[in-house]
Amino acid sequence: MTIQEYNREFGNSEIRFYTDAHGLACVELNNRAGRAEIALHGAHLMSFVPEGQEALLWMSKKSCFEAGKAIRGGIPICWPWFGGHPRGSTMPAHGFARISTWEPVAAGSCGKGAAFLELALTPGLIADEFETADFLVSLRVEVSNKLSVALSIENTGEKAFSYSAALHSYFKVSDIAKITLSGLDGRTFIDTLDDSTHLQQGDITFAAETDSVYPDTEDTCVINDPGFKRKIKISKAGSRSTVVWNPWAAKARRMPDFGDREFREMLCVETANAGTDARTLAPGEGHTLQVIIESESYTASDGYTDSG
Ligand code: BG6
Repeated sequence: MTIQEYNREFGNSEIRFYTDAHGLACVELNNRAGRAEIALHGAHLMSFVPEGQEALLWMSKKSCFEAGKAIRGGIPICWPWFGGHPRGSTMPAHGFARISTWEPVAAGSCGKGAAFLELALTPGLIADEFETADFLVSLRVEVSNKLSVALSIENTGEKAFSYSAALHSYFKVSDIAKITLSGLDGRTFIDTLDDSTHLQQGDITFAAETDSVYPDTEDTCVINDPGFKRKIKISKAGSRSTVVWNPWAAKARRMPDFGDREFREMLCVETANAGTDARTLAPGEGHTLQVIIESESYTASDGYTDSG
């Protein structure tokens, strides 16, 4: 379908399809409470700005915006596998979903004062991976002063299949060395840089490359950012695993779509079904992985006042 046809079928005063500066088909959801931009390439959430606030998501200035490549930043959809494929690097990292084109299937306003959009992914290459095309994959995005992103998978066939997934959210921070991440205190985590297991004690601070999987947590995480004087709250459903990632300087330099110093401005807190939290769907079963993102300004009770 063309942009005009998308607008005729799904557009309204809050939902507008357009072609962006990189030639990607995109859709803007804009109601009085917030604004989001989504590329149909990857069903990729590229920005979310609650009304009267600054952008919550980070995008790399060096991101690729082309067929076959993932966009760097925002919320990539990792599915039907998270990380590398067991068969190795001939398969794309983090699965096909983030490099496939999704189609809009529904859009409008929902009762909570939010604009919503639903996108679907056709089986394509994933049918070969699962040896069946009998499944439905959809992404529902709701935008108000909060952002909700929900990835639903349904097994409509007669054969079970398994997958892992993540809503690989990149958050914009003032300075990675000065923020903290709370919500994972007392949880076990695997440091994937050396495969060691640890117990998280207190809030997480960042002073080096971080790539950690927390395999058993349903908890809400909060990014405390004194530089931006805000807290970003990341709550979730249908997820028992959280991944925390920052590439730091050396890995950022090795990544062609990541600016050398951009690691200072971002933190990934990924709502996942990863590792032991991978899912198997029997015939007729479905599962939804959801993240809800919102931000709150610092107040006096956070030890912050305008006079300093
Ligand atoms: C994280 C992984 O989820 O994604 C990291 O834990 C990885 O190991 C990062 O480097 C980025 O992956 P990609 O495929 O987008 O470069």
